[in-house]
Amino acid sequence: MTTNASPQNPSAPAAPADTSNLSERSERSNASGGHGRPARALGRTGPVVSPIGLGCMGMSALYGAADRAESIATIHAALDAGVTLLDTGDFYGMGHNEMLIEEALRTAPAEARERALTSVKFGALRTVEGGFTGYDGRPEAVKNFLAYSLQRLGRDHIDIYRIARVDPDVPIEETVGAIAEAVQAGHVRHIGLSEVGARTMRRAAAVAPISDLQIEYSLISRGIEREILPTARELGIGVTAYGVLSRGLISGHFTRDRQLSPGDFRGMSPRFQGENLSRNLDLVEALRKVAEAKGVSVAQIAIAWVLARGEDVVPLVGARRRDRLAEALGALEVTLDAADLAAVEEAVPAGAAAGERYPQAQMAHLDSEH
Ligand SMILES: NC(=O)c1ccc[n+]([C@@H]2O[C@H](COP(=O)([O-])OP(=O)(O)OC[C@H]3O[C@@H](n4cnc5c(N)ncnc54)[C@H](OP(=O)(O)O)[C@@H]3O)[C@@H](O)[C@H]2O)c1
Repeated sequence: MTTNASPQNPSAPAAPADTSNLSERSERSNASGGHGRPARALGRTGPVVSPIGLGCMGMSALYGAADRAESIATIHAALDAGVTLLDTGDFYGMGHNEMLIEEALRTAPAEARERALTSVKFGALRTVEGGFTGYDGRPEAVKNFLAYSLQRLGRDHIDIYRIARVDPDVPIEETVGAIAEAVQAGHVRHIGLSEVGARTMRRAAAVAPISDLQIEYSLISRGIEREILPTARELGIGVTAYGVLSRGLISGHFTRDRQLSPGDFRGMSPRFQGENLSRNLDLVEALRKVAEAKGVSVAQIAIAWVLARGEDVVPLVGARRRDRLAEALGALEVTLDAADLAAVEEAVPAGAAAGERYPQAQMAHLDSEH
């Protein structure tokens, strides 16, 4: 049985995703579910998207070198399999990721290109050396970032546009107000949020309709369950969950002796260091037993768990290769009943992760953690 459970009570029905006008919204968004699984509506007002989205970040940044041809082949394979949601950020490889998506869409069959929805984050300020120096959410900066993204993507609109991190010097109302103007102008279809807490979500939602909150959510990152997820549900805001494999840590493929290249985020991430890494990989081994008993892979059970949190949660998987993508999409065929969910949560209890999800300096930028 496919569960529709809420995080607080695995056997309870999921909190509201407004599906009242799903077929109409689905038609508008050209979404198919993929793998026979129904499409999911992003919040009360957002687009209807494939139940799993493809996060393209790792094809340009943060997880070591990626192969360009394989990245494009992976995007094509995803579109071919019914994935409609492509997530990126203008700062992933400083424009590289958007240009990669442009090429992939340009060389995809027309029908797949038309179905594809782009979700873009902006706002990060970079240095020539690749450093991050802050965020800019001023209305004039929003317009500037948007103009460059449209050019790089080769599209006349972005489907969901969001600031990656709240600019502490600019009220969220002003940043969201600027995106709302871009919606009016037809350059953006929907407004999203990223890594914000409940208070900021309410302030943003008071300015304009918000489709979804993009935020880390996985078996080992369950912080949103206390206040953020219930608030999103109350406000009719969907969730696009990232890091569902905790950046590969709980994919079943990460090993203690894996060599990371310079600049790989995981080289600085507390969860991948020393004793923390050992403890976290012990959790993965416990999860592997549950996965094996069910005849699925570790990555598939981890993604299936996120899929089972509710119809309003859409996992973004960071596959960079076709084999990883195929494994991830296999999660759409994994159904978890109450006994499965209990076994998964016994293997990886809430709060069991060792280490914070970001290094301290980056935690400070997370409105969601304040
Ligand atoms: N809003 C935000 O603040 C924010 C932050 C981070 C990411 N994101 C978005 O969310 C997307 C997903 O995040 P993420 O890349 O960190 O997520 P993830 O899916 O947790 O991790 C992706 C990594 O897991 C490894 N992996 C192993 N098996 C896999 C499988 N079967 N399928 C997919 N990956 C597998 C891959 O490493 P190998 O390739 O080395 O095997 C890949 O680099 C990003 O691409 C980005 O668009 C948003």
